[in-house]
Amino acid sequence: MTDPKPSTNDILAKIRAKAASAAAAESGATSETPAAPSAVAAPLAVATPVGSAAPAAAPKSTADIMAAARAASKPAAAKAGSTPDILAAAKKPAGAAPAAGAAAKSPADIMAAIRAKAGAAPAASPAAGGSSATVAVPAAKIDPSKAAGLSAADMIKAARTASDGSPKAPPKVVLPSKPLPGKAAAAKTAPEIGRRSMLAVVVSAVCTWVVLAWTSMIAASVVSLLATARFMMPNVLVEPPTKFKIGPPNDYAPGTVSTKWQAQFNIWVVNAEVDGAQVIYALSTVCTHLGCTPNWLEGEQKFKCPCHGSGFYKSGVNFEGPAPRPLERVGFRLAEDGMLEVDKSVKFQKELGQWANSASFVGVT
Ligand code: FES
Repeated sequence: MTDPKPSTNDILAKIRAKAASAAAAESGATSETPAAPSAVAAPLAVATPVGSAAPAAAPKSTADIMAAARAASKPAAAKAGSTPDILAAAKKPAGAAPAAGAAAKSPADIMAAIRAKAGAAPAASPAAGGSSATVAVPAAKIDPSKAAGLSAADMIKAARTASDGSPKAPPKVVLPSKPLPGKAAAAKTAPEIGRRSMLAVVVSAVCTWVVLAWTSMIAASVVSLLATARFMMPNVLVEPPTKFKIGPPNDYAPGTVSTKWQAQFNIWVVNAEVDGAQVIYALSTVCTHLGCTPNWLEGEQKFKCPCHGSGFYKSGVNFEGPAPRPLERVGFRLAEDGMLEVDKSVKFQKELGQWANSASFVGVT
């Protein structure tokens, strides 16, 4: 709290009273009315600031008297109105705080004063409502004389300082182990591979349909050409020749049935006695019932059809089963080279009296 500003009348009355008392003391006069000139000179002693060595010149006017009085009544710190004064006062430790009347003139001054207070006062505890970003500055670690003017970086650095005064070791940066050459090359070429992959995907996406279309068209064209070529070619049934030689007559012993050419030419070669003559002839292996292939049973001396059980003698005459007629003979002759020649294009049927045809057998002596 500062004293209220004295009015002009009060100041004048006080000065005059003091001047009168001083005059009376010096002259010893008993006069109660002070002279006007001495009343003007008296305020000089009153208005002189405390500690001033040389007395100031006697005020000549009311304004001078007022200025001297106000100068005497204000605290010394109140006169610090300039910026350097305010900064000097703000940077003082808490014990030397500026007077209440000192006012900060700029934001820089205000910051300087706050920093000075922060350096003097205990650091605020983070648990006392401060945010997590607030840096708690230990009071013991900051010299109050140096607190003023600290920047935020300085305060953070001070906060990181260990209690023993040594700075904390910076966070250890863990570097990855040195990659292998192959991995390094792979890591180095990873972006390039990524770009190539993207390019490959785009090219494949574009080319897939084109390639598929061209492939389909070419395949269809090839198939069409092959079908046309096959259409232009005649259907040929490849069959074994109908006329072939089966060797000399001595290869077929009398009274025997040879099945040597059954699989290849579908004939049996029989050397038998017919009507008192030893002849060789060839029988077709086609059953006269429904066309199955009978089997020669050497033990029973007969041909037995497995389909419906028809039986045929060695001569080819049917004797059992559903077969309606005897087996057929095929063309048979002795060729000029002495070989037996078979001509399957010619058939001889017994019921038609064709077995008597000399072209259906070869006589042997
Ligand atoms: Fe030979 Fe029927 S086909 S018996």
